[in-house]
Amino acid sequence: MCGIIGYTGASQALPILVHGIHTLSYRGYDSAGVSIFRDGALIVRKDKGRIGDLAPTWSRIELAGTCGIGHTRWATHGEPSQKNAHPQVDASEGVALVHNGILENDIALREGLEAEGVVFASDTDTEVFAHLFSRNFDGDPIAAARVLLEKCHGHFALAIQHHLMPDTLIAVRRGSPLLVGLGVGENLVASDVLALVGRAYHTIEMADEQIAVVTPESATVYDKHGNEVEVERKPLDASELTVGKEGFPHYMLKEIHEQPERLYELITARMDLQHDHVRLDDLGLDDDAWRSIERVDLIGCGTAHYACFYGAYVLEALAGIPTRALQAHEYDARLPVIDDKTLVIAVSQSGETADTKVAVDLAVSQGARTIGVLNVRESFIGRAVDGVLDIHAGREVGVASTKAYTSMLTALLLLTLRAAEARGRGDEIVGRLGRAMRGIPQAIRQVMLSSELIGEVAREIHRANNMLFLGRGADATTALEGALKMKEISYIHAEGYAAGEMKHGPIALVSWEVPTVAIATAGPWRDRMIGNMREIRAREGLVIAVAADDDDDAPKVADFVLPVPTVDPWIAPIVNVVPLQLLAYETAKRRGCDIDQPRNLAKTVTVQ
Ligand code: G6P
Repeated sequence: MCGIIGYTGASQALPILVHGIHTLSYRGYDSAGVSIFRDGALIVRKDKGRIGDLAPTWSRIELAGTCGIGHTRWATHGEPSQKNAHPQVDASEGVALVHNGILENDIALREGLEAEGVVFASDTDTEVFAHLFSRNFDGDPIAAARVLLEKCHGHFALAIQHHLMPDTLIAVRRGSPLLVGLGVGENLVASDVLALVGRAYHTIEMADEQIAVVTPESATVYDKHGNEVEVERKPLDASELTVGKEGFPHYMLKEIHEQPERLYELITARMDLQHDHVRLDDLGLDDDAWRSIERVDLIGCGTAHYACFYGAYVLEALAGIPTRALQAHEYDARLPVIDDKTLVIAVSQSGETADTKVAVDLAVSQGARTIGVLNVRESFIGRAVDGVLDIHAGREVGVASTKAYTSMLTALLLLTLRAAEARGRGDEIVGRLGRAMRGIPQAIRQVMLSSELIGEVAREIHRANNMLFLGRGADATTALEGALKMKEISYIHAEGYAAGEMKHGPIALVSWEVPTVAIATAGPWRDRMIGNMREIRAREGLVIAVAADDDDDAPKVADFVLPVPTVDPWIAPIVNVVPLQLLAYETAKRRGCDIDQPRNLAKTVTVQ
């Protein structure tokens, strides 16, 4: 949820930290701060707000120094404010510390420290670490860090400075990612490799329960017992991590436009059309294993959860496996019946979502087979599951997920075809849908050609306060995701429904002030959707249809038609969501919203 950067070397630390915070801001951005060693003391500047507004107010002279730590925050313990921003310091201000993750026993530790006379200055759990480190430091940073690992429960990544160690950074990891970046005469720590690009040439990925002591010349890693450990130094290939906007005004728009390419690569890598076969052998599920599965539970949160909905439709209908899509954060509450005939598929862009990880742990503990459908193979969830299907979307920076969603859907369809193949249902399905999938990139490119029309529709609706999104069958999922995109970035209250539900309540909301988006592309549900649109028009509702470009009826029952090419109805949700992504984007733009970093949201939610 938050981002950590630390620097020690010969250059001025401030611009490097500010740049790192900028890069990490996609993870959370309600407050930011830095601490820099100068003249025997740690100078801390931090506040509520975004780094772009805060950094110009920080004096380069006051913050002159070559060793420091920085942080961008997404508040969990305590509101976004100056006192709660990181770095947090101990009472003597001799220790400064930044933290990602969550301290689970913070109340007990805080009460213990208060009983010893410590006065807390913030509402954060992070401050506990700062006091504990300070009180246990007697010149040996490893010993003090070991106390943190012993006493603190939960998951955390920490970067720490002590005023008696002017050019040293101390890094501690349990659960939350943390890397050391190795440069020339300078070294860094960061919670994401992105923040190391441009300065580090090699990285060390810290493992859980490890402590690193980093100076300009060295980086040494220790286990929780204080023993030095061998570490792998991986070359950092910045070209794999390009995250520029490439001429687009926003990451979200760039990522929407990347979809044809990303999906083309995913499909061609996994579909062997010559032999009508899906190449997913690396998942560790052979035909017998697929045949032995009696139920699939798809788990995820947010957009990934909507991808699970789609997965449940296709896995059950096409592969014949009873499947349900569940919110990961509700999984344990259901006390689900799980055994070795259950396949639990965790769907996650980041691979780091805490709720999804907890659900995976439950599945593993009860003997289920597990797969991750992930965009980051080397992630928290990636390491916990039996096999990973990499969705290959490339790094997604915009907080509102777009290309990761269509890649998740495509990956789940590939998985379905593989399951159908193994369970003897593949003959017709794999050839037909496999071939049809090859048309997805071109169909999406065609949708992009309607950008101008979508802009006009956005102009019409951008003053609305409420919207409805309707779809049927697998496109009920598209309605949910379309509504989520709209509310996430434009702040218009939008609800998505399976259209059959309309008459059972939501129709009460229909009025000329509440635009309805209806997904009515060719397929078994098209006629019923046309019926829904008529009912809305009869109640003076404004209707925006997503319909086939050759549908003659849609323009008669809709105020606007967003045309899409006709594809197989099982594939349509992968294409039909694209005009809705663009509609949300264009609407948010007209409302002057911060598209890539919408308020209150974080790209990756690493707390439950
Ligand atoms: C956050 C993000 C959503 C995302 C969800 C799940 O809520 O804002 O965009 O869909 O987390 O994230 P994951 O990384 O597990 O897909």
